[in-house]
Amino acid sequence: MSSNRVYIFDTTLRDGEQVPGCKLNTTEKLLIASQLDKLGVDVIEAGFPVSSPGDFQSVEAIAKLVKNATVCGLTRAVENDIKIAAQALKYAKHPRIHTGIGTSESHMKYKFKATPDQIIERAVAAVTYAKSFVEDVEFYAEDAGRSDNEFLAKVCEAVIKAGATVLNIPDTTGYCLPEEYGQKIKYLKENVTGIDKAILSCHCHNDLGLATANSIAGVLNGARQVECTINGIGERAGNTSLEEVTMILKQHPYLELNTNINSKMLTSISQLVSETMGMPVQPNKAIVGTNAFAHSSGIHQDGVIKNRETYEIMNPTDVGATTSSIVLTARSGRAALAYRAKNVGYNLTKQELDTVYRDFLHFADKHKEVTDNDIHQIVKMSAISKQMYA
Ligand code: KIV
Ligand code: ZN
Repeated sequence: MSSNRVYIFDTTLRDGEQVPGCKLNTTEKLLIASQLDKLGVDVIEAGFPVSSPGDFQSVEAIAKLVKNATVCGLTRAVENDIKIAAQALKYAKHPRIHTGIGTSESHMKYKFKATPDQIIERAVAAVTYAKSFVEDVEFYAEDAGRSDNEFLAKVCEAVIKAGATVLNIPDTTGYCLPEEYGQKIKYLKENVTGIDKAILSCHCHNDLGLATANSIAGVLNGARQVECTINGIGERAGNTSLEEVTMILKQHPYLELNTNINSKMLTSISQLVSETMGMPVQPNKAIVGTNAFAHSSGIHQDGVIKNRETYEIMNPTDVGATTSSIVLTARSGRAALAYRAKNVGYNLTKQELDTVYRDFLHFADKHKEVTDNDIHQIVKMSAISKQMYA
């Protein structure tokens, strides 16, 4: 296993689909799963099989369909959950059971009413039972972000002994700061006996807008799997966004951390997930928002027209977006107007541009955006048209 390979674990169909209103039927899930497989994700978390007959059916159908990725099913540390997940994953080429239990003070005390030793016992029993069905068992320490590092290390050590292949360290409540989350991963790397037998995984939520930053901090400190969703959808404020994490690694090649993601598919899969889930993507969303490569202020437009790299740190075509766009508003300058006017057939001289620009500003002050059609109107109404078309 190469140490600079970062595995991408997509949980759009499990943590993402938990969002109210985002529920998908099996056909829609199969469509997304086949695109995720083509995108190059390493693991598809297909669902939580014990949660409903519909989810069982979807996980089973995805397990039959997917050709390359590992297909994973979520369980609690409960025998029946694990048995049902194993049944749903029976046809997968590469099945993984994802089991776990809460390890923070509040989860142990309020959710499980159990002592730390009882939690370790249940964790080990769950992993041991899951290993009786599949080789690949991932363990999650729920609320690891707020768990005591020393106790977390004890849990990790025990489940590795029981055969866990991946250790998921979720910041379930999105509470950690990047420095803190990175140090947690580093602590586990340095203090868990047998850690080399397992992959550490980041699963971060976005309650404070830090999910991506925390995941990257985890990777920089030794984690080699990131759990994420398309468009960052997920419980509450969402999960780490797949497109953000993978483009951060791609755009910083000196880190020498690679994924298997075909970035040119990011825009189309973002649109597919948004449409099937009925969950619009905010226009200013990094990488896949409609404004991610749109330039509207005069200073920026002038730079981008001269050379795209003045204001763009990645090429839109690398993420499957068609091109950078120069949006005309009342903040746009002459360079942008000349550029857009040329695109629709007007090669304006400097003098003509000065005149049209004055009329353009009057129009733009009254409208949010100036379209190609508006440019035709402005040029036709402008004083220069009298000379141009006389
Ligand atoms: O956020 C979380 O802790 C989870 C686990 C169930 C993996 O989604
Ligand atoms: Zn989660």
